[in-house]
Amino acid sequence: MAWNPDQYHKFRAAREQPALDLQAMIPDLPYRRVADLGCGTGEQTLALAQRFPGAAVMGIDASAEMLAQAQAHTAAHLSFRQSDLRELDGTYDLLYSNAALQWLPDHPALLAGLWERLNPGGVLAVQVPANHDHVSHRLITETADEFTARVGRLHPFRAGAWGHTCPDARSLRRDSRRPGGKRAGSDQPGLPHRAKRS
Ligand SMILES: C[S@@+](CC[C@H](N)C(=O)[O-])C[C@H]1O[C@@H](n2cnc3c(N)ncnc32)[C@H](O)[C@@H]1O
Repeated sequence: MAWNPDQYHKFRAAREQPALDLQAMIPDLPYRRVADLGCGTGEQTLALAQRFPGAAVMGIDASAEMLAQAQAHTAAHLSFRQSDLRELDGTYDLLYSNAALQWLPDHPALLAGLWERLNPGGVLAVQVPANHDHVSHRLITETADEFTARVGRLHPFRAGAWGHTCPDARSLRRDSRRPGGKRAGSDQPGLPHRAKRS
């Protein structure tokens, strides 16, 4: 999935609060090697580096777009690496991950693998959102279900373990352009226009 750092920062204050809560739970220990897994644009990685000046702190993320912004944060003992967090090597005193592991499947194996990368006495600090029964997410799901009924063709949304579905914008756009290709529901104002804009 492609990440857009500008879009991601639109609701920055709300997004940041769980990360601040997670950081507050990390005990003050003399960490020497710290990794921020799925560090995104790196604000949390920088906060870790500022809090633990005696540690080598590395932010790891798969997205070149997110890391391009992360590189703006600099400190002598802070670095960023583009990599899949599942390919983590080395051992660490603190493994931190905020709002990233939910994108990956098989959490029992994933967490067991991360645990193996901890030095004795090390800390694993992880936060993932659990808000799929919130009103916002229920409405998204209901809207997607409505689209399913009207448009008739959906593609699985590859969001790790979440398993939600949503319409594939490319196929909606293609269908709306095809001569005679109006699909069920396209008489409804809004549906084709939405597909074209996406
Ligand atoms: C919701 S953002 C969270 C960013 C940051 N941790 C924060 O709290 O602002 C999720 C990040 O996880 C990264 N990510 C998802 N799967 C990944 C993987 N397998 N390896 C590394 N990074 C991954 C994405 O590129 C994205 O930057």
